[in-house]
Amino acid sequence: MATVIVVTNQKGGVGKTTTCAALTGIFRSRGKRVLAIDMDPQGNLSFSLGAEDEGHTIHDVMTGECNIRDAIKTTHICDVITSNILLSGSELELTSARREFILKDILKTVRTSYDYIIIDTPPALSILTINAYTAADDLIIPMTPEILSLQGIAQLRETILAVKKYYNKKLNIRGILLTKYVKKQALAKDVEEMVEIVAEQLHTVVLKDKISVSVAVAEAPAHQEVITTYSPGCRAAKDYIRLAESLYPEIAAKVK
Ligand SMILES: Nc1ncnc2c1ncn2[C@@H]1O[C@H](COP(=O)(O)OP(=O)(O)OP(=O)(O)O)[C@@H](O)[C@H]1O
Ligand SMILES: [Mg+2]
Repeated sequence: MATVIVVTNQKGGVGKTTTCAALTGIFRSRGKRVLAIDMDPQGNLSFSLGAEDEGHTIHDVMTGECNIRDAIKTTHICDVITSNILLSGSELELTSARREFILKDILKTVRTSYDYIIIDTPPALSILTINAYTAADDLIIPMTPEILSLQGIAQLRETILAVKKYYNKKLNIRGILLTKYVKKQALAKDVEEMVEIVAEQLHTVVLKDKISVSVAVAEAPAHQEVITTYSPGCRAAKDYIRLAESLYPEIAAKVK
C-alpha cells in the first residue's frame, strides 16, 4: 500500500519540484515502486522525470475524461502522471459535491501497485492543493531560509490545518524542510528561529536534515536526471539521501 507524499508551499521557487524529483530518484534506487504525480500546471516535475508532453494528464483523470491507469507514463526514472496548463482551470471545472476528495478517490485504485506516490503541487493554494492534502499521508513543506519565504505562511497554515480538520484527520505534517541552505549565514540564523515558530504553529518540526545549495541541482533537470544520479557526490544529493532515510527508514539498505 503506497504512502502518499505531498510536497507543498504556495511560495514559488522554494524547491518543491526538486524535492519531489530527488525523493523519487532515491526511492527508485532502493528498488521501490514510485508513481510521481505532477499537479503543477507548469509541468516542471513531468519534464524533470523525462516524461513526454503528450497523452493523458492528471487534468484528464481528475475531470473524469480517462481512467488513472490510462494516464500513467513510464520513463527511465519512474511512472509519472504529467500535468498541463489546462490544470489551471480546475477551480472552475471541479464542482462536484466531493470536489476535495477527487484525487483521493482516484488514487484508491492504484495504491496497491506502488510503495510511494509522490505529488508535486503548484505555488498556489487552490482546489488542486486541497485535493493533494486530502489524498496525502505525509506533507513536506520546503522553505528557503529567507525572510520573504515566510510571507503568506499564515494562509498556508490555515489551509493545511483546515484540511486536516475537515477532510483528512490522519494527515501527517512531517516538517518544514529548509532548502538552498548555506551554513553559517547570519541572515539564515535569524530566519531559522522564525521558521521554528512557524513549525510550532503547524504542530510540526523543522526537519534536522537541511538541503544545501548545490549548482548541480539546477543542471540536473536539463539532463532529465535526478540530483542523486546526476551528481551523487554533491552536497544536496547527500542531504536528500539523509533526509529520505531519516523520514522513510524502511528504504535504508539492510545491513547483514
Ligand atoms: N539545493 C539547491 N541548490 C541550488 N539550487 C536549487 C536547490 N533547490 C532548488 N534549486 C533551484 O531553485 C529553483 C527552484 O526550485 P524548484 O523548481 O524545485 O522550486 P519549486 O518550489 O518547485 O518552484 P515553483 O513554485 O515554481 O514550482 C530551480 O532553478 C532549482 O534548480
Ligand atoms: Mg515546482
